[in-house]
Amino acid sequence: MNINDDVVKELVSKAIDAREHAYAPYSEFLVGCAALGSDGKIYTGCNIENVSYSATNCAERTAIFKGVSAGCLSFEAIAIMGARKEEKPGLCYPCGVCRQVLAEFSADEGLKIIIAKNIAEYKITTLDALMPFAFVEF
Ligand code: THU
Repeated sequence: MNINDDVVKELVSKAIDAREHAYAPYSEFLVGCAALGSDGKIYTGCNIENVSYSATNCAERTAIFKGVSAGCLSFEAIAIMGARKEEKPGLCYPCGVCRQVLAEFSADEGLKIIIAKNIAEYKITTLDALMPFAFVEF
């Protein structure tokens, strides 16, 4: 799938919107995500924290699991925007657990990862670059 500038901007914009729903009363670190499925649909997610801490779900997994539960098992690109409440966003890279989940559902041609500060400032990398030699079969 061709991930051109317009697609990238749409994903970043949807990630920023999804961040509005972040439930993060403990860390106050709000994350939003938008994942482009190989079915052409965009699945969004936010982080959802829990008083137990360990039951917290990251924004990336929320978005991917929404897609998978709707029947989409492959993703081409994902945009992520995360920052503390009221603070200027830096670059928020996916955690190790999310990288493992992204590896499970990455498109065969790979997964583009767009790390956004805002609609105009973002960095594009790949899951391969963030997680070489991933465990994807046994
Ligand atoms: N978090 C995400 O949702 N995605 C990331 O890429 C990094 C961390 C969340 C988990 C937790 O709710 C908060 O950010 C602080 O770790």
